[in-house]
Amino acid sequence: MSLALELRVMAADRAAIVAAARCLAAGGLVAFPTETVYGLGADATNGAAIARLYAAKGRPSFNPLIAHVADATTARELGRFDAAAERLVSLWPGPLTLVLPKAANNAVADLATAGLETIALRVPSHPVARDILNLFGNPIVAPSANRSGHVSPTTAEHVVADLGGRIDLIVDAGPTSVGLESTIVACLGEAPILLRPGGIPRAILEQTLGRPLADPSVGDSAPLAPGRLASHYAPKARLRLSADRVHPGEALLAFGPNLPPGADKAIATRNLSLTADIIEAAANLFGHLRALDAAGATAIAVMPVPQAGLGEAINDRLQRAAAPRSSP
Ligand code: TXA
Ligand code: MG
Repeated sequence: MSLALELRVMAADRAAIVAAARCLAAGGLVAFPTETVYGLGADATNGAAIARLYAAKGRPSFNPLIAHVADATTARELGRFDAAAERLVSLWPGPLTLVLPKAANNAVADLATAGLETIALRVPSHPVARDILNLFGNPIVAPSANRSGHVSPTTAEHVVADLGGRIDLIVDAGPTSVGLESTIVACLGEAPILLRPGGIPRAILEQTLGRPLADPSVGDSAPLAPGRLASHYAPKARLRLSADRVHPGEALLAFGPNLPPGADKAIATRNLSLTADIIEAAANLFGHLRALDAAGATAIAVMPVPQAGLGEAINDRLQRAAAPRSSP
């Protein structure tokens, strides 16, 4: 591997899968598609590669990473599954991450879990992610392939915009289907806790578990979800949520067919879903925020989005994007 990084973008064919596996084995950084968002992958057992990954993202190193594996059998070698976790396994492969106590003699580098006694595990369903995992053989740690604090990438172009020059390879399979990051559930012996709403709605998880999910309690001594910084997933523009009108100078992030007063004067408009389809809205969210940024918007009026289904995750991301910015 050369030191000066020459970024390769490859269409997701067999040659790209082979190149990705080789690059990972050499300690390189490979962006690849999952069904949720593009991930920035590194060999989960290679501490030096993970250090480069943190540097490329500009990520605070206390923020641990998700280890992606090919199947539940491999996941069971890395984490200890309680009864609740075993039930949730039926939703794999898919947009679900489980936080579990780390298994003894875990091959994953300590840097990946930021020194925690727990590990985040996910079996993605995207065929390209699965092919890379199967060919490579080791678990792959992969945060979303954006600069820390930016909006997650749902296309290879988004990855180039954020990380070009900092990583080795991008495997391009077009836009991701879900568009929001995975749902994260902690199963640590007590009631399972919803750490991050995401691509699998709460109702499906609760149905699978046969019980309600707990919410993270404020003031927990253990930082269960270190990634839940208040300001996150942020575009450059300021967001004004639940807007019932568009103020002069604002751009509009719309939802549904009925636009609010002032919409005709918006400096740019993107509609999450003209038909108010919440799944389509999730897939469009991050791309539309990037597009409004690119249009030069400094303030974005955001129409209300219903909370049902994937709406919980969409509203979570919007609230984080609207939160006062923490200094980097
Ligand atoms: O859909 C996704 O989950 C994407 C794709 C690429 O798989 N990945 C992703 O990774 O969103 P990332 O790093 O952007 O977000 C992972 C979140 C972070 O907020 C991190 O703090 C949290 O998972 N996390 C990881 N390990 C954890 C642990 N042991 N305990 C609590 N939270 C953990
Ligand atoms: Mg992220």
